[in-house]
Amino acid sequence: MDKNNLTRREFLAAASTGTIAAVASGGIPAYGNIGKRAGGKLAILGGRPVRTKSFPSWPVWDKTAEKSVLSILRSGNWFRGRGNTVSEFEKKYAELMGAKRCVCTVNGTNALLTALHVLDIGVGDEVIVSPYTFIATYNVVIGSCALPVFADTDPETFQINPDKIEERINENTRAILPVHILGLPANMDRINAIAKKHNLLVIEDACQAWLAEWRGKKCGTLGDLGCFSFQNSKHLPCGEGGAVIGDDDEVMDRCFSYHNCGRPYGSVKGTSGYPIIGTNRRMTEYQAAILLSQMKRLEKDAQTRNENAQYLTSRIKDIPGIVPHKLYEGVTRAAYHLYPFRYKKEHFNNVSRGRFLSALSAEGIPCSGGYGPQYKDGLIEAALNSKNFKRSFSKARLNQYREQNHYPDNDQLCKEAVWLSQRLLLGTKRDMDDIADAILKIYENRDKLA
Ligand SMILES: Cc1ncc(COP(=O)(O)O)c(C=O)c1O
Repeated sequence: MDKNNLTRREFLAAASTGTIAAVASGGIPAYGNIGKRAGGKLAILGGRPVRTKSFPSWPVWDKTAEKSVLSILRSGNWFRGRGNTVSEFEKKYAELMGAKRCVCTVNGTNALLTALHVLDIGVGDEVIVSPYTFIATYNVVIGSCALPVFADTDPETFQINPDKIEERINENTRAILPVHILGLPANMDRINAIAKKHNLLVIEDACQAWLAEWRGKKCGTLGDLGCFSFQNSKHLPCGEGGAVIGDDDEVMDRCFSYHNCGRPYGSVKGTSGYPIIGTNRRMTEYQAAILLSQMKRLEKDAQTRNENAQYLTSRIKDIPGIVPHKLYEGVTRAAYHLYPFRYKKEHFNNVSRGRFLSALSAEGIPCSGGYGPQYKDGLIEAALNSKNFKRSFSKARLNQYREQNHYPDNDQLCKEAVWLSQRLLLGTKRDMDDIADAILKIYENRDKLA
């Protein structure tokens, strides 16, 4: 039965006879409870919300963090050159990820910039990127004076569509920068095969994908280098922070040296004090102390998010017009920085996504519509018109780029996506029921929302 072809009456009949409820694992038991728990009237129209309790807050910390941060504060050794906390975290994080080495940076943006720099990606190069990502992924390519060449999105998985990558490769393409966006792994078998065929580097933007796995290997270890963010909202947070991980000692030595003003490190040797060009992207000791403490909860939280995500999917997958995200067959674990689904308004009496989001928020479920089509915002055109780009790329190439700068699948996804934040997934099964109940309540009342 195609649920999306059901009329409202057919859906209600099916639900009441248990047809749909039986399809969903665990059924849709709360469908019949909505009236009892929340009243039929939508909260946005003055009814009682499904939920008034707040969801778990984020970040969460404990006494161990307080103790270690205070001890570093009191020591006066706040910079990594005078302590060993950053080094300790780097060692533990590399171990956890299954990578040989890790270098911490001030944030994820600078982890990506470091990775691009040490792999010598810069002026005149082209990098294949997903359009559906946090803006930092665009910015780091542009900031390296390289051209971000987008490959359209696979709307079912929210990831870069591997079928759209090869057509974007030309003689200037140096790398693919896949993003495991929302913490859901990109199709790394396909991406790595394409990279191998065309002799391209792969730099993973795993800034939302701690502990996510592709065929049992951690995201961030599947390409040449992997980059992470430890910003406040992230699953492993310290306010601002980042890391590059990798297995190639020489490349990782360059990462370390570069992030430390170009000072000698390992294989980076020279006769002067500063053998290579560098910058300062060093993490502080107290940031690393927070990370070491946060690391203790990472695995358990990951399990909770996964269990709740699977349960939530089982509860909402048969609601007409709600299309849960798919995971590629190679995904052995997702990180769920966000829980996404698509909203098809044609099954909701053409109620706009904006109105649906407002109605869901009014029912006590925080949600958002996620990324917009950022390549239309002006930054790409500003880059193309910049002195650097005009010097690095021919006029013909930039004009061709402008003509190709259309991503219909991504445009559509940006109109349909609904995101729930990771912290909602740290709640209980009952919390997931509230989310599903609220969506069902809106579906049931969709005619009143228009
Ligand atoms: C996909 C992605 N890439 C890069 C970044 C940049 O990380 P940061 O904010 O730590 O600079 C983020 C952070 O939100 C991100 O989500």
